[in-house]
Amino acid sequence: MATSCFHLLCSSSISSRLRNTSIVFPCKIPGLRIKSTMSEISEIKAEKKKIFVSGATGKTGKRIVEQLLAKGFAVKAGVRDTDKAKTIFPNPNQDLQFVKADVTEGSEKLATAIGDDSDAVICATGFQYSWDLLAPWKVDYYGTVNLVEASRKVGVNRFILVSSILVNGAAMGQLLNPAYVFLNAFGLVLVAKLQAEQHIRKSGINYTIIRPGGLKNDPPNGNIVMEPEDTLSEGSISRDQVAEVAVESLLHHSQSSYKVVEIVARTDAPKKSFEELFGSIKERRHYRPHDHGGFGLGAAL
Ligand SMILES: NC(=O)c1ccc[n+]([C@@H]2O[C@H](COP(=O)([O-])OP(=O)(O)OC[C@H]3O[C@@H](n4cnc5c(N)ncnc54)[C@H](OP(=O)(O)O)[C@@H]3O)[C@@H](O)[C@H]2O)c1
Repeated sequence: MATSCFHLLCSSSISSRLRNTSIVFPCKIPGLRIKSTMSEISEIKAEKKKIFVSGATGKTGKRIVEQLLAKGFAVKAGVRDTDKAKTIFPNPNQDLQFVKADVTEGSEKLATAIGDDSDAVICATGFQYSWDLLAPWKVDYYGTVNLVEASRKVGVNRFILVSSILVNGAAMGQLLNPAYVFLNAFGLVLVAKLQAEQHIRKSGINYTIIRPGGLKNDPPNGNIVMEPEDTLSEGSISRDQVAEVAVESLLHHSQSSYKVVEIVARTDAPKKSFEELFGSIKERRHYRPHDHGGFGLGAAL
């Protein structure tokens, strides 16, 4: 594993308590024994990096949690209903903890949920269809803004957002794209997501915004295609691959920072490493909203 990955997975609090005990190290040189008068190492503990996942009970969020745990992270799952969460993750895992976190309840409460022990935040929330036409604005816009502000309050400076292709469809000339029309028909969800993205990009937080095409529950069928913002206007991708990109963006911190990536899967696409995929996208650290087409509501914040 590359050094950078190791540093991400294990925080610096590797502690060792040394006691006055002799240790004799075996040595392959005949007749030579190295004797340490030093110590018994009674504790060498490498703390895992802890990732706060909002929307952990969702179809993509669940996969993100599972993949984070598989890659050696600890997870703090921010959920609305802990009983529901326990049915989705029935196997007890000491690296998985549940905390109540409704993103519509404001940044103060969320800051408490994220706490001072989270190293990064992944947002995979999405509004649930209801009679409330403002739900996309409450969850996909203000909810995400609340999460970003909560992260900043507790000093977390790494934020991964699962957004969507076509959020900037209007500026891309895709106003009549059926997907753009259909998705915006309920509460302008793509516009709400674009505003959330703009808030993240102006906030100064280190971000990776992942814009997937249509999400599928099926296992991956095809290789990941990664393109810069406002490029893809069609295509689909397995939620497994979206989760993989979210987790890999943490593992490829320097290559994925301050980037917006659009992803779909294609059977005819070549398989590329995540270094190649993230490396092909330009960093946009100094974001100026007026450079960015689309609706300017975010500027009002
Ligand atoms: N569907 C697509 O084809 C498509 C395409 C591109 C992008 N996306 C985006 O990808 C993301 C993931 O999609 P998905 O279909 O995997 O999601 P999903 O299964 O609908 O899950 C949504 C998650 O958001 C949570 N949530 C909703 N309101 C919340 C609130 N007020 N506070 C905290 N959590 C809340 C839900 O929690 P509960 O379990 O408590 O309800 C659930 O965990 C979404 O942002 C979606 O818009 C979707």
